Amino acid sequence: MSSDSYSSDQNYLRQVQYRTADNLNARIQIHKRFTTGTQTWEDFIFEHLPDLSGKRLLALGCGNATQWRINQHRFAPNTRIILTDISEGMLAEARGDLEGDSRFTLLCMDASELEFEDESFDFVTANHMLYHVPDIAQTLAEVARVLKPGGRMMAATNGANYMLDLDMLLTEFWPVYGGLHTMSLKFNLQNAAEQLQPWFGQVEKRLYTGDLWVTEALPLVDYAFSTQRVQQLIPLDQKEPMRAFFQAHIDQSGGILIRKETGLFLASQPKKA
Ligand SMILES: C[S@@+](CC[C@H](N)C(=O)[O-])C[C@H]1O[C@@H](n2cnc3c(N)ncnc32)[C@H](O)[C@@H]1O
Repeated sequence: MSSDSYSSDQNYLRQVQYRTADNLNARIQIHKRFTTGTQTWEDFIFEHLPDLSGKRLLALGCGNATQWRINQHRFAPNTRIILTDISEGMLAEARGDLEGDSRFTLLCMDASELEFEDESFDFVTANHMLYHVPDIAQTLAEVARVLKPGGRMMAATNGANYMLDLDMLLTEFWPVYGGLHTMSLKFNLQNAAEQLQPWFGQVEKRLYTGDLWVTEALPLVDYAFSTQRVQQLIPLDQKEPMRAFFQAHIDQSGGILIRKETGLFLASQPKKA
């Protein structure tokens, strides 16, 4: 995902980038269709969740809830999962498959001001969302507050070199793009542990294995135009020239390799003030 300093502007996120799930879906699609990994991202996430039987889980910035919808059949009947996001548009799409499933509750809520009592959850997830919140420390304080003693959290994010190959290609295509993605700079695989440590006694990093080998040009154009940086710097009438540019690379090499750097942190034992 590529972006710039606006990526924690909450109005931009709510009203433009995540007003609907379209941008997120364009990105999820490319990961789903062109991954070189043997394990899906959703499976990787599920593998790192605890047994939630009889437990309460809170998801912050759940987006369109892809992770929860794909794994829906794997949760015990007595699990309670509260999905939250600041975007009503995201929640509207998330509601689709989850409506009528009493294990799930969906609420519009800012992750930095949680409307829950202290010590009310066994597990909290904040996947690919903490780099968006204006005050990460305040949000982590809220997570520690709502976790029960012994509770744990998961925070998935990207590394500093995440999809750098795409940024380099986009710069070759449109030099003004000039770019390195910066969306996850504030909270990434390199700097997240030190931000989690003040709130949690134990922090572990788990890396996801899998890059992208993209063999179709159009999904890559859709991906590029889902990002804030491309939307701001490359005119819409460049979609077709960009498709032809990617296609030429695909014709030459059979595909385009885009290396990823993604993973998650598991943090346990919230430190109480
Ligand atoms: C990149 S998406 C990730 C969605 C989902 N967690 C996933 O991993 O597929 C980031 C989500 O965070 C949400 N978000 C951004 N700032 C937020 C905040 N302060 N509180 C709650 N959600 C927020 C956005 O609306 C968006 O749905």
